[in-house]
Amino acid sequence: MQIAILGTGKMARGIAYALRETAHDITFASREPARAEALAREMSSENARTYQGTSYASAAARADVAFLAVPFVVAPTLVTSLRDHLHEKVLVDLTNPLNDDFTGLTTLDGTSAAEEIARVAGPRVKVVGALKHTFSGTFAEPTLNGGPAPDVLIVGDDAAAKQKVAELVTAMGFGALDAGPLKVARTLERMTLLLIDLATRNHWNWNAGFKILK
Ligand SMILES: NC(=O)c1ccc[n+]([C@@H]2O[C@H](COP(=O)([O-])OP(=O)(O)OC[C@H]3O[C@@H](n4cnc5c(N)ncnc54)[C@H](OP(=O)(O)O)[C@@H]3O)[C@@H](O)[C@H]2O)c1
Repeated sequence: MQIAILGTGKMARGIAYALRETAHDITFASREPARAEALAREMSSENARTYQGTSYASAAARADVAFLAVPFVVAPTLVTSLRDHLHEKVLVDLTNPLNDDFTGLTTLDGTSAAEEIARVAGPRVKVVGALKHTFSGTFAEPTLNGGPAPDVLIVGDDAAAKQKVAELVTAMGFGALDAGPLKVARTLERMTLLLIDLATRNHWNWNAGFKILK
């Protein structure tokens, strides 16, 4: 598959690293294509595989699956500009609508970042919410010092798209759980807030995640 990672920050690096042993083609995208190309060169030199780098539009145009790894505050505008390139493709929304001090959400009750992304993307883009409470620091070693890997709760209204994302998340080394329709992102985004609060108060060094035991 062609994977686009929209962004060049912490989550972009984490996702790309966690997929290093897959056969997928992975392309970073940036407002400054040279930044995406430089990150691709850096990661290609560190891992036994090749990454690419380009603009947001070019990466979205060639993608089968695109990870939206940008701040929520800029995400609706970016997705609006890319949506024609994303028709019939999977857009993985990992954004959290956090306020400036990470103590609350900027979205109103009764909605979520994922639903806002889906609204601006339009009905032809298959938006899936995932990795919202997967800290970037856990991608390098999902087993967290040898323990069980955290679960990634996956939400969306298209079963085949969720299955595709579940396979990618499993390839990254995490557990994957279908948590229901896209509107359940309202809960997932609040779970992120809870995890940030727990990590901050307990000095967990951002090395924590949720695991459902059955
Ligand atoms: N960090 C975590 O542990 C974590 C965990 C789960 C979910 N998330 C979510 O994942 C998303 C990305 O988080 P991150 O930690 O990777 O953020 P980050 O390190 O700050 O990177 C964000 C990226 O967004 C791109 N971007 C595009 N337009 C931008 C703008 N106007 N201002 C700033 N950046 C812009 C930037 O790439 P270019 O400048 O190259 O375009 C930048 O590299 C966020 O929505 C966050 O809520 C984060």
